[in-house]
Amino acid sequence: MKFLPISLLIMALATATALAYDPSPLQDFCVAINDPKVFFNGKFCKDPKQVTADDFLFKGFRYPGNTANPLGSKVTPAFVDQLPGLNTLGISMARIDFAPGGLNPPHTHPRGTEILVVAEGTLLVGFVTSNQLNNTLLTKVLYKGDVFVFPIGLIHFQLNIGNTSALAFATPSSQNPGVITIANAVFGSKPPISADVLTKAFQLDKKVIDYLQAQFWYDNN
Ligand SMILES: *[C@@H]1O[C@H](CO)[C@@H](O)[C@H](O)[C@H]1NC(C)=O
Ligand SMILES: *[C@@H]1O[C@H](CO)[C@@H](O)[C@H](O)[C@H]1NC(C)=O
Repeated sequence: MKFLPISLLIMALATATALAYDPSPLQDFCVAINDPKVFFNGKFCKDPKQVTADDFLFKGFRYPGNTANPLGSKVTPAFVDQLPGLNTLGISMARIDFAPGGLNPPHTHPRGTEILVVAEGTLLVGFVTSNQLNNTLLTKVLYKGDVFVFPIGLIHFQLNIGNTSALAFATPSSQNPGVITIANAVFGSKPPISADVLTKAFQLDKKVIDYLQAQFWYDNN
């Protein structure tokens, strides 16, 4: 009897762990349903009897994203919000279109490693290691067919250095990898981060910080 509550606690913890992490589904699938009134770590499952092939289909990659924007790039996500069949499966995709010179600016995915394949064009890509590894830049020029991996959490970018438009497909290891665009988060936060913080952190004059905070930070996602 003494051990019963402990075993129940362990079971509860095991269940919580199963719910808390991206991979390790406990059934064939758990097609997401959205209930805006309920908050939950992940998404609730649709009744499997109501699930159809459409729940696993996303048509949003058929056409190029609109790159007529300040960055000259457009990310079209196929994350769990767009493709409910991804729920609990620990994977997703994104289509990334680049105009000539287009940039997918330095950003990080808090919940996913990303593997990227170039379908068209020439991309300069890179990521920067953590402080512990001396913020080393690892960079490459990628051609059609090349594959590159951006480890989870690390700041990375892709720049179209070719004369034509470029196209890449990325596969994050999360149904909802998240995106933090560095410039947008640091200089475009609402409300703005105190200039006292940013002048010291970036070794910049307050005038420069004011200028940066006054810019429009386009989000290409
Ligand atoms: C980082 O820099 C320190 C100090 O220069 C050095 O001792 C260490 O080996 C470097 N680590 C890596 C992973 O490059
Ligand atoms: C882009 O065009 C310029 C000028 O025509 C040429 O010199 C350069 O090699 C081209 N670059 C690529 C990556 O095709």
